[in-house]
Amino acid sequence: MKFSLMEPRYEAMNYRRCGRSGLLMSEISLGFWHNFGGTADYGTCRAIVEYAFDHGVTCYDLANNYGPPYGSAETTFGRIFRDSLQSHRDEMVITTKAGHDMWPGPYGEWGSRKSVMASLDQSLKRMGLDYVDIFYSHRPDPDTPIEETMQALADIVRSGKALYAGISKYPPEMAQRAYDYLKEARTPCLVYQGRYNMLDSTPEEHILPQAEKNGVGYVAFSPLAQGLLTDRYLNGIPEGSRMTRSRFLTPDVLTDDMLAGLRSLNEEAAASGLTLARYALKWILRRPEVTSVIVGASSVEQLADSLKAVL
Ligand SMILES: NC(=O)c1ccc[n+]([C@@H]2O[C@H](COP(=O)([O-])OP(=O)(O)OC[C@H]3O[C@@H](n4cnc5c(N)ncnc54)[C@H](OP(=O)(O)O)[C@@H]3O)[C@@H](O)[C@H]2O)c1
Repeated sequence: MKFSLMEPRYEAMNYRRCGRSGLLMSEISLGFWHNFGGTADYGTCRAIVEYAFDHGVTCYDLANNYGPPYGSAETTFGRIFRDSLQSHRDEMVITTKAGHDMWPGPYGEWGSRKSVMASLDQSLKRMGLDYVDIFYSHRPDPDTPIEETMQALADIVRSGKALYAGISKYPPEMAQRAYDYLKEARTPCLVYQGRYNMLDSTPEEHILPQAEKNGVGYVAFSPLAQGLLTDRYLNGIPEGSRMTRSRFLTPDVLTDDMLAGLRSLNEEAAASGLTLARYALKWILRRPEVTSVIVGASSVEQLADSLKAVL
């Protein structure tokens, strides 16, 4: 086994308490939405995860359908876990989610008890784990009674297949109902996961103060706006970048106004002696309600740059 521990790795990272819970999370988490699917180079994936772990990242964020194809990011993570990290399980917070489209038919998505329970069992099998640390409802379901989804989360926590429950992308009114239900069920909601970055500060209006009031931590996804808040697109669209291969980031967002705004942020960052990526991550971490930011990375170099935001 090539993996060698770089000590003292925990000194390279800061840890924040997640809401009013006992759980500390690394200020930076690593996300598996892109770059870890079945077509990704396994050596690169493994190097990114080992680098993260060696630099104090304790939190790894997955979902049932991350890939492509769906499920393959969990399979890749499971392989890396077996190859490198198995003996460090108790040093890691591994999270997954259910709610978006995953398998065919009426039970492969949304928030029914049937779907949520089956999805977690599939995820555990793909990752080769007995339990995850946090299990999320990945999106609100307008048709399933919220009580059914929340009771499924509570029962999952009781069963030991997840240690904590979380929700993602719920609008404020539904988030409050989720917090109240889970509190009543004595499995309090640990964390809210939502998009928050310099180009989208809407969580500051309701979601952040509401989470804090309820003792719930906040974890920010797409903190670099999928790469826009880095130097990636300042001089064109590089070959192989997310904008060339994902339907979630398309060239039409790169308007003249957007580019001018990104270039001006890049100058502000440089004036502070920072890369734009670090500047953007520090901007999120300035908020005490934020527990962790989940970064994506397609190379060790990108992750290394982002991790310097905690220095
Ligand atoms: N709950 C939800 O619904 C939800 C939704 C979205 C995401 N998430 C979670 O949040 C995680 C992060 O989301 P994200 O991937 O959109 O995050 P992001 O950090 O905003 O974007 C990551 C992308 O930015 C580029 N990049 C990263 N660091 C860079 C650097 N230092 N310099 C230059 N470019 C850099 C890379 O693009 P290239 O690939 O082009 O190199 C990378 O793939 C996901 O993996 C997932 O775990 C959750």
